[in-house]
Amino acid sequence: MADLSIPIETERLRLRPFTIADVDAVHAYHGLDEVARYQYWEQRSRDEVVQEVTKWADGGWDRQVADAEAIVFAVTLSQSGILIGDMVLLFRDKEARQGEIGFTFNPSHGGKGYATEAARAVFAAGFGHFNLHRIFGRCDARNRASWRLMERLGMRREAHFREHALFKGVWDEEFHYAMLAREWAEMDKGGF
Ligand SMILES: CC(C)(COP(=O)(O)OP(=O)(O)OC[C@H]1O[C@@H](n2cnc3c(N)ncnc32)[C@H](O)[C@@H]1OP(=O)(O)O)[C@@H](O)C(=O)NCCC(=O)NCCS
Repeated sequence: MADLSIPIETERLRLRPFTIADVDAVHAYHGLDEVARYQYWEQRSRDEVVQEVTKWADGGWDRQVADAEAIVFAVTLSQSGILIGDMVLLFRDKEARQGEIGFTFNPSHGGKGYATEAARAVFAAGFGHFNLHRIFGRCDARNRASWRLMERLGMRREAHFREHALFKGVWDEEFHYAMLAREWAEMDKGGF
């Protein structure tokens, strides 16, 4: 896969690879129960965040692009450089060019459209740069902020899995959302 240019700039944001210097900024939100509630992990200690960020920072985007497993984006405010969240694009099926998007933001910066703006940049990279055919996202049906974000992005609700697994000790209700490359191209042309 071709290299990804660093950083990715949007109107208000800069998406860049993680560095180990980001640990405290990530711990500020990965350490919160409200942020971990619908994730596969529990709220993280600083040591656990050090482990995560070390993995994300190792070799930067060059290594991640070469491995073709996942790219992790540090989302920062362009003006101040403050880190407000992380996004991941996972390459789930290389032959069928299927990607999965994931997002976790610091609630102190919620409600301003930053996650939407960052996700659009990740979609542009996924469809434009990595030539993905489809990008999907999954969330707990109770995670309203997450599915509203996917609807705001123009993704389609494709499935509602009912009590298909146990999640943190209770039946899991899971929504699947997706967008095809041609749907993205149509939306992009229309300027959203
Ligand atoms: C999912 C998550 C990223 C969504 O965050 P968010 O703040 O709702 O999303 P955005 O940053 O895109 O902000 C959207 C809100 O800002 C408003 N907004 C303000 N200015 C905006 C702009 N310029 N563009 C778009 N929306 C804007 C929108 O109306 C929306 O508010 P509403 O929900 O009251 O309608 C966040 O809740 C989160 O990190 N949760 C914890 C982790 C998690 O559960 N991740 C998902 C696991 S599946």
